Amino acid sequence: MRAVVVEQWGGPENLVEREVERPEPGLNEVLVRVHAAGVNPVDWKTRAGGALIEWGDVPAVGWDVSGTVEAVGPGVGLFRPGDEVFGMPLFPRQAGGYAEYVVAPARHLAPKPARLTHVEAAALPLAALTAWQALVDTADLRPGERVLVHAAAGGVGHLAVQIAKARGAYVIGTASAGKHDLLRELGADEVIDYRSVRFEDAVADVDVVLDGLGGETAERSLRVLRPGGRLITLPGPDDVPAAPAGVRALWVLVEPDHLGLREIAALADRGALRPVVETVLPLSQAARAHELGEQGRTTGKIVLSVV
Ligand SMILES: NC(=O)c1ccc[n+]([C@@H]2O[C@H](COP(=O)([O-])OP(=O)(O)OC[C@H]3O[C@@H](n4cnc5c(N)ncnc54)[C@H](OP(=O)(O)O)[C@@H]3O)[C@@H](O)[C@H]2O)c1
Repeated sequence: MRAVVVEQWGGPENLVEREVERPEPGLNEVLVRVHAAGVNPVDWKTRAGGALIEWGDVPAVGWDVSGTVEAVGPGVGLFRPGDEVFGMPLFPRQAGGYAEYVVAPARHLAPKPARLTHVEAAALPLAALTAWQALVDTADLRPGERVLVHAAAGGVGHLAVQIAKARGAYVIGTASAGKHDLLRELGADEVIDYRSVRFEDAVADVDVVLDGLGGETAERSLRVLRPGGRLITLPGPDDVPAAPAGVRALWVLVEPDHLGLREIAALADRGALRPVVETVLPLSQAARAHELGEQGRTTGKIVLSVV
Protein backbone atom coordinates (compact mmCIF):
# COMPACT_ATOMS: atom_id res chain seq x y z
CA MET A 1 0.00 0.00 0.00
CA ARG A 2 1.01 3.65 -0.33
CA ALA A 3 1.96 5.44 2.87
CA VAL A 4 3.69 8.66 3.78
CA VAL A 5 6.43 7.95 6.31
CA VAL A 6 8.99 10.05 8.15
CA GLU A 7 12.43 9.25 6.80
CA GLN A 8 14.19 10.94 9.69
CA TRP A 9 13.35 13.56 12.32
CA GLY A 10 13.29 17.05 10.86
CA GLY A 11 11.49 19.32 8.40
CA PRO A 12 8.51 18.61 6.12
CA GLU A 13 10.85 17.38 3.36
CA ASN A 14 11.40 14.27 5.47
CA LEU A 15 7.83 13.15 4.75
CA VAL A 16 8.08 10.77 1.81
CA GLU A 17 5.66 8.48 0.01
CA ARG A 18 6.64 4.79 0.04
CA GLU A 19 5.20 1.37 -0.83
CA VAL A 20 4.91 -0.47 2.50
CA GLU A 21 3.31 -3.69 3.64
CA ARG A 22 -0.41 -3.53 4.32
CA PRO A 23 -1.11 -4.22 8.02
CA GLU A 24 -3.28 -7.16 9.17
CA PRO A 25 -5.99 -6.79 11.81
CA GLY A 26 -5.39 -8.84 14.95
CA LEU A 27 -7.75 -9.70 17.83
CA ASN A 28 -10.37 -6.94 18.28
CA GLU A 29 -8.86 -4.92 15.46
CA VAL A 30 -10.30 -3.46 12.27
CA LEU A 31 -8.52 -2.84 8.96
CA VAL A 32 -9.72 0.48 7.54
CA ARG A 33 -9.37 1.58 3.91
CA VAL A 34 -8.56 5.25 4.49
CA HIS A 35 -10.37 7.79 2.29
CA ALA A 36 -9.11 10.90 4.07
CA ALA A 37 -6.60 11.68 6.82
CA GLY A 38 -6.76 14.77 9.02
CA VAL A 39 -3.65 16.82 9.80
CA ASN A 40 -2.95 18.09 13.34
CA PRO A 41 -0.17 20.08 15.02
CA VAL A 42 0.96 16.93 16.84
CA ASP A 43 1.76 15.43 13.43
CA TRP A 44 4.37 18.07 12.65
CA LYS A 45 5.59 18.29 16.23
CA THR A 46 6.19 14.54 16.08
CA ARG A 47 7.82 14.70 12.63
CA ALA A 48 10.19 17.38 13.91
CA GLY A 49 11.18 15.11 16.81
CA GLY A 50 10.14 17.54 19.50
CA ALA A 51 6.82 16.07 20.64
CA LEU A 52 6.15 14.79 24.13
CA ILE A 53 5.66 11.43 22.58
CA GLU A 54 8.93 9.59 22.84
CA TRP A 55 9.56 6.87 20.34
CA GLY A 56 12.84 5.08 19.94
CA ASP A 57 12.41 4.77 16.19
CA VAL A 58 11.27 7.31 13.60
CA PRO A 59 7.48 7.27 13.56
CA ALA A 60 4.71 6.93 11.05
CA VAL A 61 2.78 10.13 11.73
CA GLY A 62 -0.95 10.79 11.38
CA TRP A 63 -3.88 9.67 13.50
CA ASP A 64 -7.13 11.13 12.15
CA VAL A 65 -8.79 8.90 9.57
CA SER A 66 -12.14 8.42 7.89
CA GLY A 67 -12.72 5.42 5.68
CA THR A 68 -14.38 2.06 5.06
CA VAL A 69 -13.91 -1.14 7.05
CA GLU A 70 -12.02 -3.57 4.78
CA ALA A 71 -11.73 -6.49 7.20
CA VAL A 72 -12.23 -7.26 10.88
CA GLY A 73 -10.08 -9.40 13.16
CA PRO A 74 -11.40 -12.08 15.51
CA GLY A 75 -13.61 -10.76 18.30
CA VAL A 76 -14.94 -7.63 16.60
CA GLY A 77 -18.70 -7.27 16.92
CA LEU A 78 -19.06 -3.54 16.39
CA PHE A 79 -18.25 -3.35 12.68
CA ARG A 80 -18.44 -5.34 9.45
CA PRO A 81 -16.65 -4.94 6.12
CA GLY A 82 -18.20 -2.05 4.21
CA ASP A 83 -19.06 0.06 7.29
CA GLU A 84 -17.99 3.69 7.13
CA VAL A 85 -15.99 4.73 10.19
CA PHE A 86 -13.89 7.57 11.56
CA GLY A 87 -11.51 7.87 14.49
CA MET A 88 -8.12 8.61 15.97
CA PRO A 89 -6.70 5.15 16.56
CA LEU A 90 -3.96 4.36 19.04
CA PHE A 91 -3.04 7.94 19.97
CA PRO A 92 -0.47 8.71 21.38
CA ARG A 93 1.12 5.52 20.07
CA GLN A 94 1.85 5.20 16.36
CA ALA A 95 -1.07 4.66 14.00
CA GLY A 96 0.33 5.57 10.59
CA GLY A 97 -2.75 7.49 9.48
CA TYR A 98 -1.14 8.93 6.35
CA ALA A 99 -1.68 5.71 4.41
CA GLU A 100 -4.14 3.76 2.29
CA TYR A 101 -4.89 1.38 5.18
CA VAL A 102 -4.66 1.53 8.95
CA VAL A 103 -5.34 -1.01 11.66
CA ALA A 104 -7.31 0.22 14.66
CA PRO A 105 -8.70 -1.30 17.84
CA ALA A 106 -12.44 -1.42 17.05
CA ARG A 107 -13.41 0.88 19.89
CA HIS A 108 -10.98 3.55 18.73
CA LEU A 109 -13.45 4.09 15.85
CA ALA A 110 -17.13 4.97 15.53
CA PRO A 111 -19.61 5.10 12.64
CA LYS A 112 -18.83 8.08 10.40
CA PRO A 113 -21.42 10.88 10.64
CA ALA A 114 -23.73 10.15 7.68
CA ARG A 115 -24.14 13.83 6.91
CA LEU A 116 -20.42 14.40 6.37
CA THR A 117 -18.05 13.45 3.56
CA HIS A 118 -14.95 11.44 4.44
CA VAL A 119 -12.86 14.59 4.11
CA GLU A 120 -15.08 16.42 6.61
CA ALA A 121 -15.21 13.43 8.97
CA ALA A 122 -11.39 13.13 8.90
CA ALA A 123 -11.20 16.72 10.14
CA LEU A 124 -12.98 15.78 13.36
CA PRO A 125 -11.56 13.03 15.56
CA LEU A 126 -8.50 14.48 17.30
CA ALA A 127 -9.63 18.11 17.39
CA ALA A 128 -13.26 17.41 18.30
CA LEU A 129 -12.35 14.78 20.92
CA THR A 130 -9.92 17.27 22.44
CA ALA A 131 -12.66 19.88 22.70
CA TRP A 132 -15.18 17.33 23.99
CA GLN A 133 -12.89 15.75 26.58
CA ALA A 134 -11.72 19.18 27.78
CA LEU A 135 -15.05 20.98 27.93
CA VAL A 136 -17.48 18.18 28.74
CA ASP A 137 -15.53 15.41 30.49
CA THR A 138 -12.97 17.53 32.34
CA ALA A 139 -14.48 21.00 32.85
CA ASP A 140 -18.05 19.66 33.15
CA LEU A 141 -19.30 22.72 31.25
CA ARG A 142 -22.88 23.60 32.26
CA PRO A 143 -25.65 25.43 30.37
CA GLY A 144 -25.37 29.18 30.93
CA GLU A 145 -21.69 29.06 31.89
CA ARG A 146 -19.30 31.47 30.20
CA VAL A 147 -16.50 29.89 28.18
CA LEU A 148 -13.53 31.63 26.58
CA VAL A 149 -11.95 29.75 23.66
CA HIS A 150 -8.48 30.93 22.57
CA ALA A 151 -7.42 30.33 18.95
CA ALA A 152 -11.13 29.91 18.31
CA ALA A 153 -10.76 29.75 14.51
CA GLY A 154 -8.20 26.93 14.61
CA GLY A 155 -8.69 23.19 14.40
CA VAL A 156 -9.65 22.62 18.03
CA GLY A 157 -11.09 26.10 18.59
CA HIS A 158 -13.75 26.16 15.86
CA LEU A 159 -15.10 22.83 17.05
CA ALA A 160 -14.90 23.85 20.72
CA VAL A 161 -17.01 26.94 19.96
CA GLN A 162 -19.72 24.74 18.45
CA ILE A 163 -19.58 22.06 21.17
CA ALA A 164 -19.78 24.70 23.92
CA LYS A 165 -22.72 26.36 22.14
CA ALA A 166 -24.49 23.00 21.78
CA ARG A 167 -24.06 22.52 25.57
CA GLY A 168 -25.87 25.82 26.16
CA ALA A 169 -22.82 27.88 27.16
CA TYR A 170 -22.16 31.56 26.45
CA VAL A 171 -19.18 31.47 24.09
CA ILE A 172 -16.41 34.05 23.69
CA GLY A 173 -13.65 33.44 21.14
CA THR A 174 -10.31 35.06 20.31
CA ALA A 175 -9.14 35.33 16.70
CA SER A 176 -7.82 37.90 14.25
CA ALA A 177 -10.54 40.20 12.88
CA GLY A 178 -10.85 38.52 9.47
CA LYS A 179 -12.12 35.34 11.17
CA HIS A 180 -14.84 36.95 13.30
CA ASP A 181 -17.72 36.47 10.84
CA LEU A 182 -16.99 32.75 10.68
CA LEU A 183 -16.89 32.50 14.48
CA ARG A 184 -20.26 34.24 14.76
CA GLU A 185 -21.70 31.85 12.16
CA LEU A 186 -20.41 28.94 14.23
CA GLY A 187 -22.21 30.29 17.30
CA ALA A 188 -19.78 32.56 19.17
CA ASP A 189 -21.66 35.17 21.23
CA GLU A 190 -18.64 37.48 21.49
CA VAL A 191 -15.41 37.69 19.53
CA ILE A 192 -12.17 39.40 20.55
CA ASP A 193 -9.49 40.55 18.12
CA TYR A 194 -6.44 39.51 20.10
CA ARG A 195 -4.24 41.66 17.87
CA SER A 196 -5.85 44.94 18.94
CA VAL A 197 -7.28 44.12 22.40
CA ARG A 198 -5.83 42.37 25.41
CA PHE A 199 -8.47 39.75 26.09
CA GLU A 200 -8.25 40.22 29.87
CA ASP A 201 -9.34 43.86 29.37
CA ALA A 202 -12.40 42.76 27.35
CA VAL A 203 -13.74 39.77 29.27
CA ALA A 204 -14.28 38.74 32.91
CA ASP A 205 -16.24 36.28 35.05
CA VAL A 206 -15.41 33.32 32.87
CA ASP A 207 -16.19 29.79 34.08
CA VAL A 208 -14.02 27.84 31.63
CA VAL A 209 -11.06 28.84 29.44
CA LEU A 210 -9.98 26.47 26.68
CA ASP A 211 -6.47 27.59 25.77
CA GLY A 212 -4.86 26.31 22.58
CA LEU A 213 -1.93 28.73 22.86
CA GLY A 214 -0.22 28.20 26.23
CA GLY A 215 2.68 30.36 27.42
CA GLU A 216 1.72 33.81 28.65
CA THR A 217 -1.85 33.34 27.32
CA ALA A 218 -2.33 30.63 29.94
CA GLU A 219 -0.99 32.91 32.71
CA ARG A 220 -3.15 35.84 31.63
CA SER A 221 -6.21 33.59 31.37
CA LEU A 222 -6.20 33.04 35.13
CA ARG A 223 -7.18 36.72 35.54
CA VAL A 224 -10.50 36.30 33.71
CA LEU A 225 -11.68 33.26 35.69
CA ARG A 226 -14.31 33.56 38.37
CA PRO A 227 -14.06 31.49 41.60
CA GLY A 228 -14.70 27.87 40.67
CA GLY A 229 -13.29 28.52 37.20
CA ARG A 230 -11.34 25.98 35.17
CA LEU A 231 -8.43 26.63 32.79
CA ILE A 232 -7.59 23.85 30.39
CA THR A 233 -4.46 24.47 28.41
CA LEU A 234 -3.62 22.25 25.47
CA PRO A 235 -0.07 22.70 24.10
CA GLY A 236 1.79 20.95 26.91
CA PRO A 237 2.12 20.31 30.64
CA ASP A 238 4.77 23.05 30.95
CA ASP A 239 2.15 25.59 29.87
CA VAL A 240 0.02 25.11 33.00
CA PRO A 241 0.40 28.09 35.34
CA ALA A 242 0.23 27.76 39.12
CA ALA A 243 -3.44 28.34 39.87
CA PRO A 244 -4.57 30.49 42.81
CA ALA A 245 -6.95 29.00 45.38
CA GLY A 246 -10.43 28.38 44.05
CA VAL A 247 -9.59 27.75 40.42
CA ARG A 248 -8.24 24.73 38.59
CA ALA A 249 -5.59 24.81 35.86
CA LEU A 250 -4.57 21.68 34.03
CA TRP A 251 -3.27 20.13 30.84
CA VAL A 252 -5.16 17.23 29.35
CA LEU A 253 -4.03 14.94 26.55
CA VAL A 254 -6.70 13.69 24.17
CA GLU A 255 -7.30 9.93 24.05
CA PRO A 256 -9.15 7.52 21.76
CA ASP A 257 -12.78 7.47 22.84
CA HIS A 258 -15.56 5.49 21.14
CA LEU A 259 -18.36 7.10 23.15
CA GLY A 260 -16.96 10.61 22.61
CA LEU A 261 -16.82 9.96 18.85
CA ARG A 262 -20.46 8.85 18.94
CA GLU A 263 -21.46 12.08 20.71
CA ILE A 264 -19.49 14.09 18.14
CA ALA A 265 -21.08 12.19 15.24
CA ALA A 266 -24.55 12.79 16.70
CA LEU A 267 -23.86 16.54 16.90
CA ALA A 268 -22.60 16.54 13.31
CA ASP A 269 -25.60 14.59 12.06
CA ARG A 270 -28.03 17.05 13.61
CA GLY A 271 -26.14 19.98 12.08
CA ALA A 272 -24.78 21.31 15.38
CA LEU A 273 -21.12 20.57 14.58
CA ARG A 274 -19.69 21.55 11.21
CA PRO A 275 -16.00 20.97 10.51
CA VAL A 276 -14.48 23.76 8.44
CA VAL A 277 -11.93 22.32 6.00
CA GLU A 278 -9.73 25.10 4.73
CA THR A 279 -7.44 22.98 2.52
CA VAL A 280 -7.61 19.51 0.98
CA LEU A 281 -4.41 18.09 -0.51
CA PRO A 282 -3.60 14.65 -1.95
CA LEU A 283 -1.68 12.24 0.30
CA SER A 284 1.40 12.79 -1.87
CA GLN A 285 1.46 16.43 -0.71
CA ALA A 286 1.64 15.70 3.02
CA ALA A 287 4.82 17.80 3.22
CA ARG A 288 2.96 20.81 1.80
CA ALA A 289 0.16 20.23 4.34
CA HIS A 290 2.71 20.41 7.16
CA GLU A 291 4.32 23.56 5.72
CA LEU A 292 0.92 25.25 5.64
CA GLY A 293 -0.16 24.05 9.07
CA GLU A 294 3.09 25.01 10.74
CA GLN A 295 2.49 28.64 9.84
CA GLY A 296 -0.11 28.60 12.63
CA ARG A 297 -2.78 30.53 10.71
CA THR A 298 -5.08 27.69 9.64
CA THR A 299 -8.79 28.39 9.74
CA GLY A 300 -10.40 25.08 10.68
CA LYS A 301 -8.52 22.10 9.34
CA ILE A 302 -6.19 20.73 6.66
CA VAL A 303 -7.09 17.27 5.36
CA LEU A 304 -5.29 14.81 3.08
CA SER A 305 -7.37 13.03 0.48
CA VAL A 306 -6.21 9.43 0.18
CA VAL A 307 -8.43 8.08 -2.64
N1 LIG B 1 -3.43 18.37 24.68
C1 LIG B 1 -4.01 17.82 23.62
O1 LIG B 1 -4.51 16.71 23.66
C2 LIG B 1 -4.07 18.62 22.33
C3 LIG B 1 -4.99 18.23 21.34
C4 LIG B 1 -5.09 19.01 20.19
C5 LIG B 1 -4.25 20.11 20.02
N2 LIG B 1 -3.35 20.43 21.00
C6 LIG B 1 -2.48 21.61 20.85
O2 LIG B 1 -3.31 22.74 20.88
C7 LIG B 1 -2.77 23.76 20.04
C8 LIG B 1 -3.85 24.21 19.04
O3 LIG B 1 -4.17 23.14 18.15
P1 LIG B 1 -5.03 23.44 16.84
O4 LIG B 1 -5.15 22.16 16.08
O5 LIG B 1 -6.27 24.15 17.19
O6 LIG B 1 -4.02 24.45 16.06
P2 LIG B 1 -4.20 25.25 14.71
O7 LIG B 1 -5.41 24.81 13.99
O8 LIG B 1 -2.91 25.16 13.98
O9 LIG B 1 -4.40 26.78 15.22
C9 LIG B 1 -4.34 27.77 14.26
C10 LIG B 1 -5.15 28.97 14.74
O10 LIG B 1 -4.52 29.60 15.85
C11 LIG B 1 -4.89 30.96 15.82
N3 LIG B 1 -4.01 31.79 16.63
C12 LIG B 1 -2.66 31.86 16.56
N4 LIG B 1 -2.20 32.74 17.49
C13 LIG B 1 -3.28 33.21 18.15
C14 LIG B 1 -3.47 34.12 19.25
N5 LIG B 1 -2.43 34.71 19.84
N6 LIG B 1 -4.73 34.35 19.70
C15 LIG B 1 -5.79 33.73 19.11
N7 LIG B 1 -5.68 32.87 18.08
C16 LIG B 1 -4.45 32.61 17.61
C17 LIG B 1 -4.85 31.30 14.34
O11 LIG B 1 -5.75 32.38 14.11
P3 LIG B 1 -5.22 33.77 13.54
O12 LIG B 1 -4.76 33.49 12.13
O13 LIG B 1 -6.40 34.63 13.67
O14 LIG B 1 -4.05 34.17 14.42
C18 LIG B 1 -5.32 30.02 13.66
O15 LIG B 1 -6.68 30.06 13.23
C19 LIG B 1 -1.52 23.15 19.39
O16 LIG B 1 -0.40 23.51 20.18
C20 LIG B 1 -1.76 21.66 19.52
O17 LIG B 1 -0.57 20.90 19.51
C21 LIG B 1 -3.23 19.70 22.13
